[in-house]
Amino acid sequence: MTDHLPTDNLSYDTFAASVQRSKELEADFLKNPHKHRVLTGDRPTGDLHIGHLFGSLQNRVRLAKLGVESFIVIADYQVLTDRDVFDRIAECTMNLAIDYIAAGLDPDSGHVFIFPHSCVPELNQLMLPFLNLVSIAELERNPTVKEEIEAAKMARMNAGMFTYPVHQAADILFCNATAIPVGKDQLPHIELTRVIARRFNAKYAVDGKPVFREPQALLSETPSILGLDGGKKMSKSRNNSITLKASEDETAKIIKTATTDSERMITYDPLHRPQVANLLDIAALCSGETPQKIADSIGNGGGGKLKEYLTEHLNAYLRPLRARRAELEKDPAYVRKAINTGIDRARAVGADTLLNVRKAMNMYTPG
Ligand code: TRP
Repeated sequence: MTDHLPTDNLSYDTFAASVQRSKELEADFLKNPHKHRVLTGDRPTGDLHIGHLFGSLQNRVRLAKLGVESFIVIADYQVLTDRDVFDRIAECTMNLAIDYIAAGLDPDSGHVFIFPHSCVPELNQLMLPFLNLVSIAELERNPTVKEEIEAAKMARMNAGMFTYPVHQAADILFCNATAIPVGKDQLPHIELTRVIARRFNAKYAVDGKPVFREPQALLSETPSILGLDGGKKMSKSRNNSITLKASEDETAKIIKTATTDSERMITYDPLHRPQVANLLDIAALCSGETPQKIADSIGNGGGGKLKEYLTEHLNAYLRPLRARRAELEKDPAYVRKAINTGIDRARAVGADTLLNVRKAMNMYTPG
């Protein structure tokens, strides 16, 4: 029997190599911003919080401000993989777009495009050829999917969950993105995308002319922000996050409930006092002081003083973003127009790619 699958290796264990490539990519951005195209995205499942803001949103805003063309995908199909609740997807899509724009991703710049992937048929169509380029065993080994299945407590895994990383490859390759600013948990999907691009080119490229570029992850420098209950990642479902949308009072309230420890003297010791260090890290990101300096200035003031400091600086830091957010909420027509423009641009780029893909695969071309 012939093996229809390529025999090159897909390794998910590439963290060190990804970090190195990410550094090189960063340097090239500053030299050649216009050579690049950024693509990133989120699932529209709830409001973005400060973990997203410091961890990835600000990195995207920085790149967009360098003039790099940026596609931001709202991954609404991915929501269907592990949620039974879908009655709010449209609302969450609008909300997510509002968070993006308020954070500084400016659709009026002419090079920032926000779109739900379900609205781009050309992108979705890439899923079918791509599915033939990976093996079931390779998908089974994906560590992020494994974790998500566990977290979702799925009795039986649906094929959508199993194959969504291939769909994510379509998200990335439909526009031939070069750089994907993401967190560490997304690296397996980027690795899969790179392999799909490579295998597609190896199998179908005409005259050795590649159809796809191999994209690279761009890792953020910011330390990952923990939830306010300490220990675990900040996440809406764990009720340990401060959303961008929250009012100043709500922000104060949730900071008051943050877990610290029994020691009164405030010191910056991420290893032994992770909860206190986390609050100091967030405060430092907002005030521009180092966490050590903030700890010194609070000293014997204890957890109460630290929380007051954090509340004041975080609210001040988020004030302009929240004001812009409130304006956007009152102007859904503007947000819808921005999304529609994003969809138009994504469809035009996707149509070009799909045509190249179809030609390379020797498919019948209508018309
Ligand atoms: N999988 C990502 C998440 O769960 C969301 C996502 C979908 C994405 N498509 C993408 C991220 C493309 C980066 C690039 O958060």
